[in-house]
Formats: sequence, C-alpha cells, structure tokens
Amino acid sequence: MRRFLQKLPQYFENKNIMNNEVLQLWPELEWIQDSSLREKTATTWEIALERSVLTVDDLNRIPFTLLAGPDLKVTFMEHKRSVVHIARAAGEKINEMYHGELPVDMDVLISGAILIDVGKLLEYELDENGNAIQGRYGKYLRHPFSGVSLAEEAGVPPQVCHIIAAHAGEGDMVKRTTEATLVHHADFMTFLPFKERLK
Ligand SMILES: [Fe+2]
Repeated sequence: MRRFLQKLPQYFENKNIMNNEVLQLWPELEWIQDSSLREKTATTWEIALERSVLTVDDLNRIPFTLLAGPDLKVTFMEHKRSVVHIARAAGEKINEMYHGELPVDMDVLISGAILIDVGKLLEYELDENGNAIQGRYGKYLRHPFSGVSLAEEAGVPPQVCHIIAAHAGEGDMVKRTTEATLVHHADFMTFLPFKERLK
C-alpha cells in the first residue's frame, strides 16, 4: 500500500501527460457535448496508446492505410481527423435540411468517428524500417473488433461501439444506424479514390 501511495503522484503525472497527448491528438473531442461520453472516448485512446507500439509521432507519420501503395502521403491522423470533420458536416446538414425526418445524434456520430480506427493501434506493428505492418494480433482481430474491445473497456455505449464495429467492410453484413452510415461513407469516400480512381 505504501509503495502504491508513493507511486501515486507519478501515476497522476503519467495520466495527465496521456490526457494532454490525447487532447492534442484529437481537438475534435471538444465537439462532444456530453462530458461523460467525451471522457470515455478520450479514455479509449489513452488505453490504446498505453498498449500500442505506435506513438503519437508515428500516428502523425505513418500513412492512413496499407492498401493504397507506398507513395501515399496522407498520414493516419490527417485522414482520421478529416473523417470526423466530413461526418460532422454531413450530420449538421441532414439535421438542418430534413426537418427531423432523419435525426442524427451528433455526439454519437462524433464519438464514433473519433473511435473507428483506434483499434489500429493494436492491429499494427512496426517493421525494422519503421513501416507500419499488420501484426499477428491484427491478422486475427482487425481494428473494427479490437476497437470495440477497447471502447467497451472504457465504458463507451453500444450505439457508439456499433459505429466502430460497422464502419469497414465487415459492417456491410450489418444493418447500420444513420450515424454509422454517415461515418462509414465519410471514411470510404476519402479512402476508395486513394486506393483506385479513374484518371
Ligand atoms: Fe478503419
């Protein structure tokens, strides 16, 4: 117990560093109105960063997908943040222009969009040249699965975990909520043309 108490300031110091790291990584967390959901969303990223071989610097360096060739210059964070911005803009327009006929829960949408690829922190490993590759764990459990696992650990509610679970190809087998549909399309409309497009 004494040992634990002695280590307590260090624990909180580390926790604060981690909190600041996540806030710097994701300024969009501020858009979540519900403080409890905002905290749980941030905690999911904290847990993932604690367990990952990837650092914040890696996330600002590695390409956002392994499926668009070696010349891709859009980073993981650039893409993931853009998806949150695009999904939010779409949700706002739908709420504004469809007079309640297709209601979008903006907190659920934004939290889900921030979390869709958090599982990549467990899916990816770095090779000897610092390139991101899919690791052994990631081969068995791609990031939609590991993402749900991390989010549930942080107490993220099921309507948000659903967005993580259904955002990628695996989700084509699932009936998606409105929020999950918007996030899925925001993600894929900015992925597919990078992977392959008519020029
Ligand atoms: Fe993804």
